[in-house]
Amino acid sequence: MYKILLAITVVSLIIMVGGVTAPAQQTGSGEVDMVAAKATFESYCSKCHDVGRALGKKKDQAGWEKTVTRMSGYHKRFGARIPEEDRNTIIKYLVEVAGK
Ligand code: HEC
Repeated sequence: MYKILLAITVVSLIIMVGGVTAPAQQTGSGEVDMVAAKATFESYCSKCHDVGRALGKKKDQAGWEKTVTRMSGYHKRFGARIPEEDRNTIIKYLVEVAGK
């Protein structure tokens, strides 16, 4: 009996943890979740100027990598650079909505 209860507890814990830690940034196909990516972009890229400053531009992947890396350097004034994972999400988002 104890073993069965333990097994049920373990299984439900795995299900609960799995639900909570399911990757929020990625969909099944490995594409960026654009809703989450937009939120990441807006939270970082509206701190110093309007998001329109970015959305008014068209750049290719290399261009956005350069810009986001430069902005990430400016972001040190808030204590740290933009974490790499968030930078990658923002770059993918910008290539999607403001790529050329
Ligand atoms: C810490 C302040 C700060 C943050 C955060 C910031 N920017 Fe900027 N941004 C600036 C400043 C200052 C300039 C003007 C100087 C320059 O272009 O380097 C600028 C200019 C720009 C430009 C116009 C110049 C160009 O290269 O086309 C774009 C586009 C831009 N930012 C996009 C972004 C994006 C995307 C993000 C989010 C990843 C972001 N910014 C976050 C400070 C910031």
